[in-house]
Amino acid sequence: MIKIDLNNVDKKYVDLIPTYQEKVSEINKKLHAKEIHSDWTGWLDLPNQVEEDLLSRVEATAKRIKENSDVLLVIGIGGSYLGGAAAIEMLNGYFRKQEVEVIFAGQNISSQYVSELKDYLADKDFSINVISKSGTTLEPALAFRIFKEMLEEKYGEDANDRIIASTDPVDGALRGLSSIMGYETYSIPKNVGGRYSVLTPVGLIPMAVAGIDIRKVFTGAKKAFADTSKELSENVAYQYAVIRDIFFNNDKSIEVVAGYEPKLRMFFEWQKQLYMESEGKDGQGLFIASCNFSTDLHSLGQYIQDGPRHMIETVFNLTSVAADIEIKADERNLDGLNYLVGKNVSEVNEKAMLGTLQAHVDGGVPNIILNMPDINEEVFGYMVYFFMKSCAMSSILLDVNPFNQPGVEDYKKNMFALLGKPTK
Ligand code: PA5
Repeated sequence: MIKIDLNNVDKKYVDLIPTYQEKVSEINKKLHAKEIHSDWTGWLDLPNQVEEDLLSRVEATAKRIKENSDVLLVIGIGGSYLGGAAAIEMLNGYFRKQEVEVIFAGQNISSQYVSELKDYLADKDFSINVISKSGTTLEPALAFRIFKEMLEEKYGEDANDRIIASTDPVDGALRGLSSIMGYETYSIPKNVGGRYSVLTPVGLIPMAVAGIDIRKVFTGAKKAFADTSKELSENVAYQYAVIRDIFFNNDKSIEVVAGYEPKLRMFFEWQKQLYMESEGKDGQGLFIASCNFSTDLHSLGQYIQDGPRHMIETVFNLTSVAADIEIKADERNLDGLNYLVGKNVSEVNEKAMLGTLQAHVDGGVPNIILNMPDINEEVFGYMVYFFMKSCAMSSILLDVNPFNQPGVEDYKKNMFALLGKPTK
């Protein structure tokens, strides 16, 4: 489903890929045999081990929310937010009116955002899906406190029936609170970390409420499981991991991830978190900057073309489009665009991509192209699993643990000290 084109990468680097065969195969074997990082690799098996009970329960929850709510407020941050948001943005069309509007909160601490959201929700029926694996993250916990109160004021005792908590099976404040209050709860498996949790209730509930067919998402993830279990020579996810590693070891420090469809924007946000929280340790890892072209060619294009030569570019090329528009003749041609007559808008976009590719490669930015079909549920499920697998491999190649994020604690420590949080 995803094909890699390395024709715009120097042959001396492409030729190094097969030298990784043994190492990659060994890591892959150990990951699947649970010989390394076994406490955190539950996500590897999700495509094949998802239970019918979970899928039908999520669908029933979504049905109930659709019946009683105009809005589902999804409260979470990082891995408890980005996957669901990416799915909805990619799959639900640019301007289509949703049966239930899914709005995210707890992904920032902006008082303005919260106040405006409260005003927006005031005359709407809404439910809350609060998502926190640890159950203790400040941003979602604070947002939940505020919106739970609003829900209680609005619905009295019935408010509890409008709250769904997705959290650790046993531990954390959210699990404790949910048990006491009697909220419907979903467990996030212990051995699945935040940024690897899209295929758990974390991603599934927001997707199902937004009308996305979660079964098709799993069909795609299953295909990705099969494709990413192959040897390196046939395994695009691992080839992508390896070429990134080769570039990192050859003085590249930034990966520009670019697409020509704006609906990829939130997926790139998820991908940035996935890779940078997984790889960015002990001085390792490529910094990912995402670009939405051609928009960003008019803002970031100059730097990519002419700035320091420390970057590579990965282009997400959607090889088919769901909708197109033919460009018609204009008799007076005052805008001078009649040379485009008979072409489709998608052809113009494609030529923008090819022209940019050539310019960036000529300017010294190696380009990796990932060709993929237009996004549907199956493709989304495939992409999620493909990049999680690729990222785990590239992190292990860098000799870092893909599943922890010790650096994230530093800002929290300072913030809690400034806020006077009790230490016991
Ligand atoms: O990938 C991760 O583990 C993190 O980004 C978490 O998802 C994020 O910090 C939110 O954590 P939690 O779900 O525990 O509130």
